[in-house]
This record gives sequence, C-alpha cells and structure tokens, in this order.
Amino acid sequence: MRLKAPQDQTLIGESPAFLEIIDQCSRAAKHDRPVLVIGERGTGKELIAARLHFLSPRWERNFIQVNCAALPENLLESELFGHEAGSFTGANTKRIGRFEDAHNGTLFLDEIATTSLSAQEKLLRVSEYGTFQRIGSNKTIQSDVRIIGATNIDLPTAADRGEFRHDLLDRLALDVITLPPLRHRRDDILLLAFQFGQRVAQEREWMSFPGFSDNMIDALMQHDWPGNIRELKNVVERSVYHSEDEYIPVDTMEIDPFKSPFRPQAKIQKIENLPAPPPAQSPLFDGKPIDYGHTVAALEYTMLEDALEHNKHNQRDTAIYLNLTYHQLRHQLKKHDLL
Ligand SMILES: Nc1ncnc2c1ncn2[C@@H]1O[C@H](COP(=O)(O)OP(=O)(O)O)[C@@H](O)[C@H]1O
Ligand SMILES: [Mg+2]
Repeated sequence: MRLKAPQDQTLIGESPAFLEIIDQCSRAAKHDRPVLVIGERGTGKELIAARLHFLSPRWERNFIQVNCAALPENLLESELFGHEAGSFTGANTKRIGRFEDAHNGTLFLDEIATTSLSAQEKLLRVSEYGTFQRIGSNKTIQSDVRIIGATNIDLPTAADRGEFRHDLLDRLALDVITLPPLRHRRDDILLLAFQFGQRVAQEREWMSFPGFSDNMIDALMQHDWPGNIRELKNVVERSVYHSEDEYIPVDTMEIDPFKSPFRPQAKIQKIENLPAPPPAQSPLFDGKPIDYGHTVAALEYTMLEDALEHNKHNQRDTAIYLNLTYHQLRHQLKKHDLL
C-alpha cells in the first residue's frame, strides 16, 4: 500500500516536544539506516515514517507500508518476502514480496512488535546482509531496503520477555524516535483542533471557521486524549459537523458518539451470572462459602459504576473521588469493560 503524496501529510505542531521530534526526524532521514518510531496509538507514527522517507535520499523511490498486525504469521512472511508457486496450500502463483517492491526505497513495518520470532529472524538477516529467500525457494535475493519500524509497545521489555529478538532490536534501534502523547504536548491541542475544524468548515463550504467557544476550549484542554491526535481529529470533526450555525463558535465537544440512554448494556449482561455484591453494611461472611474472585469483581464493578454516576462520568473527578490516580482508574474501567 503506497502512501499518499507528501503534501497530504501535513504535520502540525509548535510545542517544543513536537519541534524536537521534527529535528530528530530530519537528522535520522539522512543517514539511510533503520529507524524505530515508538508512540501510543494516534500519535502520528505513520506520518513520521512517511516524513523520514520523503526527506531521505530515497524519496523518489517506493515507500511501501505493511501493517504486520493485519496478517496472520505465515501470510506475513509471504507478504514480506514473497513465495514461489506451490510453496504452500493456496500459493498458486509466484508472488513478489514487499522487500522486492521496496528495493532502493523504504519499507515501513507498522506494528512490528507483532511479528513472529521466525519473521524476526528473517528481518534480522535482511537488515544485516540485505538478503532473503522467497518462501519455497532457496535462491538468495539481494535487496537494498531501508527499514522503518513502528510500534506502541515497549520493545526492550518485549525483548526481555523473549517476545522480540534482542539482536533485531539492537539492529533496528540505530535511531529511535519516541513520539510524545498529546497530553504531554498540550500546547498543540488548540492548534491542531483549529486546523481540523477549519478543514471541516471548508468541506461544509462555510464562509469561514467560527472557532470554538470558551466552554469548548476548556473541554478540549482538559481532556486527556488517550487516543491522541487521531482521537482529537475525530472529536473535532464530529463536533464541527454537528454544529448548526456557521457563524456561532462550536460549543459542544462530542467525545462519545455512542452516548445514548438506549445504548445496549453489554457490561451488565457480562456480570449477570455473578453473585450480587453484598450490601455495603452487611457482614461479608454469613457462614456460607462465597466465591472470593466474583464477589470482589462485583464489588469493584458496583463501586466504579456508582462513582462514575456520582461524578457525572467525569473520569478525572471519579479518580479523585476514589482516591485513585487517573491511570489506575482507567485501568480499572478497562478491566471491567466500562470504558
Ligand atoms: N502532527 C500532526 N499534525 C496533523 N495531523 C496529525 C499529526 N500527527 C498525527 N496526525 C493525524 O492523526 C491521525 C493518526 O496519525 P497516525 O500517523 O496514523 O498515528 P499512529 O500511526 O501513531 O496511530 C492521522 O489522521 C494523522 O493524519
Ligand atoms: Mg498507525
């Protein structure tokens, strides 16, 4: 899958953390070695990978992108290295792999941490010696490809757990660009939000973009953006699309499009089989044996739901109310499918 032309890939940002990334990107682009781009989902890893390619001496050659998480293990290897006809069931015709397609260009391996150890072994070889074989063939193919890998997980930890090869990590980590989450570059929130808002205003053929109300600006600044720039973009687009008057600043931040009194209550069904939580004042033990795990889970769930309700579903307030950090609360909400 080839990426769009570089002019569609406008990177926006003015915060020191962002500008530092852009500098690092320009330096790394030149040296023609592997680069790892690390960052939470939605932080712009794909845009940075494209920038690395288009600023590099390879910019006129192919920029090929493979999402390693999108293919099962055996198909990924054939996608990357190609296969000969008849090399496995379903391989009716010969297939040229992405490493051959990307010859003299750049291969962007998104979600690289999801690759199998066997694929990693082949990646190590191709990144060290530029050689590989199509599946089902013993002919060695030479290819000159610059690898850029991206992931949102901590690769050194994955390597310590035996899930990622240390030697491949050392090889790919010649340069590591770690993108800051949006909550750590809050200076950029409004800048990005205005750009995204302006684009929608243009699409809606408004005379101009009326901007955001103070209310909305507060909401934008206060939200923690766990989905980072992608989430901000979606929220702003949704909010501006739903705003009715092109002359009135957009006032309602629409975070959750599924919010509705009629939303199916999947989470309730999930714990239906659990024993009811004991009323808070009653003694937990009445002589009969109880299931510890289920009782604690049900109690946690009820506490979370009540606390959310009490705090009008504001997660920051709920965390304070329960004496948890924001991250502890998010973890608990996720565990109980309450996010
Ligand atoms: N600095 C930026 N300026 C403008 N848009 C950005 C920026 N970073 C990311 N985006 C947008 O946010 C979305 C997510 O970016 P992407 O590169 O796909 O993130 P990731 O690969 O880290 O999940 C895309 O729509 C992208 O265009
Ligand atoms: Mg991505």
